[in-house]
Amino acid sequence: MKNIAIFGAGGFGREVKMLIDHINAESPQWNFIGYFDDDFSNAVLIDEPYRLGGMDALNAIHEKLYLVLAIGNPLVKRKILHKIHNRHIHYPVLIHPNVVMGNSDVTIGDGCIICAGTILTVDIKIGKHVILNLACTVGHDTIIHDFCSFMPSVNISGEVLIEEAVYVGTGAKIINQLEIGAETVVGAGAVVSKSLPPKCTAVGVPAKPIRFQTD
Ligand SMILES: CC(C)(COP(=O)(O)OP(=O)(O)OC[C@H]1O[C@@H](n2cnc3c(N)ncnc32)[C@H](O)[C@@H]1OP(=O)(O)O)[C@@H](O)C(=O)NCCC(=O)NCCS
Repeated sequence: MKNIAIFGAGGFGREVKMLIDHINAESPQWNFIGYFDDDFSNAVLIDEPYRLGGMDALNAIHEKLYLVLAIGNPLVKRKILHKIHNRHIHYPVLIHPNVVMGNSDVTIGDGCIICAGTILTVDIKIGKHVILNLACTVGHDTIIHDFCSFMPSVNISGEVLIEEAVYVGTGAKIINQLEIGAETVVGAGAVVSKSLPPKCTAVGVPAKPIRFQTD
């Protein structure tokens, strides 16, 4: 059994714990040791022994540890990762046992979380630290870059290109052969029917940018 911890003690952190439990029920492999977070004030449902401390405690670990980043916001997820400077930390790929994958040409980078009910068809490339939450679908030849997060029930059609750190809200749909620029946010329930530029927030049916991030 390998030691595993979750960074992020919020609701999604507890859902990732559920995912680890489901993987262990199918094939025991993870010894869950607890949660890291810089702020446990909203973690009332987590017992004291499972509160392992913040970033300093994580960086002080001196035994091999697998760490899952249970953080939905791609920009926060990337920032947290860049603060971890510990050669003992490794990032596992967690895939729920009922996830369907079409063929061996689906590649998935380190640190990805693929939740129950998700379906990936064929010839798909997924970068590092990507979250595909419950019941997402990803079509053929789609490419998803690092740090993207897809909330429950997002449908991505074939030949879609999604650049780094894109967030897609629950129930959104992305039509085939489109591109979504880096760090863009797609609102819940949106239908993306034209490519979206980087660093915008787009909502609605069809999805239209309502604002652009300023650096
Ligand atoms: C798109 C989103 C990120 C925007 O959040 P925000 O930046 O805080 O924006 P606001 O709430 O200020 O909304 C701005 C405007 O867009 C509208 N809007 C927000 N989200 C929308 C959506 N998903 N679809 C349509 N319109 C939306 C608001 O009604 C508001 O309109 P108004 O200016 O006419 O009042 C957010 O609403 C959203 O959809 N998040 C996804 C949440 C999700 O999927 N969570 C899953 C958890 S598991």
